[in-house]
Amino acid sequence: MQNIPLYDETGFDGMRKAGHLAAKVLAYIEPFVIEGVMTETLDAKCHAFILDHGAIPAPLGYKGFPKSICTSINHVVCHGIPGPQKLCKGDILNIDVTVIVEGWYGDSSRMFWIPPIAPATKRLIDVTHEALFRGISEVKPGNYLGDIGWAIQSYVEAEGFSVVRDFCGHGLGRVFHGAPEVLHFGRPKTGIPLKKGMFFTIEPMVNMGAYPIKILADNWTAVTRDRRLSAQFEHSLGVTETGVEIFTQWLS
Ligand code: MF3
Ligand code: CO
Ligand code: CO
Repeated sequence: MQNIPLYDETGFDGMRKAGHLAAKVLAYIEPFVIEGVMTETLDAKCHAFILDHGAIPAPLGYKGFPKSICTSINHVVCHGIPGPQKLCKGDILNIDVTVIVEGWYGDSSRMFWIPPIAPATKRLIDVTHEALFRGISEVKPGNYLGDIGWAIQSYVEAEGFSVVRDFCGHGLGRVFHGAPEVLHFGRPKTGIPLKKGMFFTIEPMVNMGAYPIKILADNWTAVTRDRRLSAQFEHSLGVTETGVEIFTQWLS
């Protein structure tokens, strides 16, 4: 059985600050996500912005990850490593930011794209966004982790897309990745009951084709096996008395 910490008001305050900065980083970087920019340039800008705000980019050096953000383009599911690759017309991109503020972790990601993109591609992005919020709307004391997974899976599959199985949301707070594991698939009224003071992420990865993935030789980059597109959105949140507080509410 996983031991899940229950945080108090001090924790909520800490997570509000960390979550807000993660959201600020995503808003800050948006105007730089244009055709021809290298993902390592986006990384360098986010790195500097985070340090300027007195915070630490959690990915840098985490289990050997070499950069400060993850940039996952097109068929990359997650954990893409920023590098010299330049964004092209029609690319879709997830930028995943995690900051440490006074010891608290704020973790959020969203999609960007370089127009024009095909209607089916925009639909993948919209469905993934909606899937995150359908998951979030299940978060309240008395519900179960399985309710979140079911809300996401049933919606995504009805739209003809698939939910990645190999990565999940995670507890966070004064750690980056802790209990509980938050699966983006499941059955209603199963799994761990949600309690006030639990902090975790919901971060569904949705594939246009099939859900299997593989990890590239860099030991980080996860890609769809069928090389079709994948999208992801992520928020960090806390369970409140009556529902949920989103710590990473996007600003733009
Ligand atoms: N931010 C990612 C998550 O949502 C984790 C990235 S780990 C890294 O959990 F090492 F790749 F940065
Ligand atoms: Co996360
Ligand atoms: Co993340």
